[in-house]
Amino acid sequence: MEALRQARRERRALVGFSIYNLEQGLGVIRAAEAVGAPVLLQAGSSAFRYAGREPLAGLALGLAATAAVPAGVHLDHATDLGEIEACLRLGYTSVMFDGSARSLERNIEATREVVRRAHAAGAWVEAELAGIAGDEDESSGRQATATTDPGAAARFVAETGVDALAVAIGNVHGIGDEPVRLDLDLLARIGRAVEIPLVLHGASGLPPAEVSAAIALGVAKLNVNTELRHALREAVLARAADPPAGDGVAALLDPVIGATRSAAEAKIRAFSSPSASTTGSSS
Ligand code: 13P
Repeated sequence: MEALRQARRERRALVGFSIYNLEQGLGVIRAAEAVGAPVLLQAGSSAFRYAGREPLAGLALGLAATAAVPAGVHLDHATDLGEIEACLRLGYTSVMFDGSARSLERNIEATREVVRRAHAAGAWVEAELAGIAGDEDESSGRQATATTDPGAAARFVAETGVDALAVAIGNVHGIGDEPVRLDLDLLARIGRAVEIPLVLHGASGLPPAEVSAAIALGVAKLNVNTELRHALREAVLARAADPPAGDGVAALLDPVIGATRSAAEAKIRAFSSPSASTTGSSS
């Protein structure tokens, strides 16, 4: 948690990368090690549907434990208390409870309970007030609708004791044809109303200047999934078009590790490394 608070103070952002398999996890860790910056592996609810909870969690926890940089394992977009409990027992260092489909009152009540359980397990909690549009696993349904109300955010944070807040400021999951416009004025108001680190979901495909502006206004964690999926897809398709000799596994899958590492390293270098500190008004 201290890494996140420090990131907000220093106007940098930790990057949480969604991973579905070993090759992506290795690529992310190698990227963070190359830059010498902390990183978060997000092995979350939707990826569990692909890989299974225990297998994917075990893989992410093992990678984090053996990394040469501080690496946390984060549960992204969980709506189920049972799943949160299970991940806390497995050793997750943070969880995101997504109560955005509930009324404010019910979201506050449920988030407060998640905070109580997670803090007892030594983990920190990210929560969400207004739903962030788009599918988490593929680029579809990208119509941003709800936005975070600064007043409601201040009340939500005060009444839940949550550690980080995901904002809805026009950001959407996935990359599509239409450019995404972040409402930076709204973010500035949220940043003034709320002192805890803010989280920007849907950070794939955004112009770097816009991400830097968001960081200057209080965003201290970026969530990236689609850019890693695109890197994986291109690596797999290129390998299939030009298959290696022999039948070894490494020759086939090494390109996925390399492509993931390149994509992740660009993000970490731009937004997480000490030299990435953005200028602009602090909040
Ligand atoms: P992108 O897929 O747009 O990178 O968003 C990822 C995300 O916010 C995961 O929670």
